[in-house]
Amino acid sequence: QAFFRSIMNAAPSSPTKRHSKISVVGAGNVGMAIAQTILTQDLTDELVLVDEIPDKVRGEMLDLQHAAAFLPRTRIQASTEYSVTEGSDLCIVTAGARQMNGESRLNLLQRNVTLFKKIIPPLVGYSPHTILLIVSNPVDVLTYVAWKLSGFPSNRVIGSGTNLDSSRFRFLIADHLDVNAQDVQAYIVGEHGDSSVALWSSISVGGVPVLSFLENQQIAYEKEMLEKIHKQVVHSAYEVISLKGYTSWAIGYSVANLARTILRDQRRVHPVSVLAKGFYHIHGGDVFLSLPAQIGRGGVLGVTNVHLTQEETQKLRDSATTILHLQNQLHI
Ligand code: NAI
Ligand code: 2OP
Repeated sequence: QAFFRSIMNAAPSSPTKRHSKISVVGAGNVGMAIAQTILTQDLTDELVLVDEIPDKVRGEMLDLQHAAAFLPRTRIQASTEYSVTEGSDLCIVTAGARQMNGESRLNLLQRNVTLFKKIIPPLVGYSPHTILLIVSNPVDVLTYVAWKLSGFPSNRVIGSGTNLDSSRFRFLIADHLDVNAQDVQAYIVGEHGDSSVALWSSISVGGVPVLSFLENQQIAYEKEMLEKIHKQVVHSAYEVISLKGYTSWAIGYSVANLARTILRDQRRVHPVSVLAKGFYHIHGGDVFLSLPAQIGRGGVLGVTNVHLTQEETQKLRDSATTILHLQNQLHI
């Protein structure tokens, strides 16, 4: 006997919105922070976790399922097998080695390329129309590796890139000026990490461009303060890793924010890692790095044409050279 008596003439249950499915590969600190933010923000109908450790991924799945009474309704599944990811709209890859105290992101490269060769082919085999969102480090080079291994058009392969660095930047500027970080518009572009580039000219608070405001007021000391803030952004992850061993909450919110824009076709501009060749005088190879890009259900829809100073353009090209140098040593 059914629990509910059926209502005569009622239409068969037909969802009013499209069913959506997100898969997260890697159920570690980062994967689980992303999963839990996606769940609390009600971003998908189905959430799948994949990890190579069967007990860990099943344990994480059960722990999240046990919160069902307090969460929006979402079907949660987990496995070590990629068949569970079939038909995903969005696949988020967080699997892989992470930095030890003081280690650079770039040092992780070869270990994570080896893993990606096992992860990307089955993932895209089961979801040939998905959008790949890469988080594992070094994220820019691994986004390139994922693009190559997937055979996807570049608009469907995105790296979480400097969406996180820009959030750290906005927090520190907001803290300094005693305003709300959501009212601060500011971009960090280039490599996620050490050679990232702060776009000073992009900083505005409540629509007021900060740099020209400071110049008009002739407050030179504030410019030094902004330089110091960028150094703090670059150092942020190292500091958190030295204190708690890894970073997780900010990247969890940053990636959930991207997932919302993609699945809800928000067409918002985010600084994310995209195929940058041909933009902002970047030439010399297929390099992925972060640029302010408009994204939506189709993936990357375009790259915005922000005005860069000569110095910013040069720094961005230097960042591209750093990444390309590493990429050229890879055997994929
Ligand atoms: P973690 O060690 O907690 O988790 C990694 C997970 O990957 C583990 O559960 C492990 O079992 C799993 N894994 C390893 N090989 C696998 C395979 N072949 N298939 C499926 N799962 C596999 O590490 P954490 O802290 O979660 O970091 C993950 C990655 O994210 C690291 O590369 C880290 O550097 C990166 N990261 C990137 C950020 C960004 O802004 N792009 C921010 C924070 C971390
Ligand atoms: C972060 O910036 C470690 O890439 C990682 O938090």
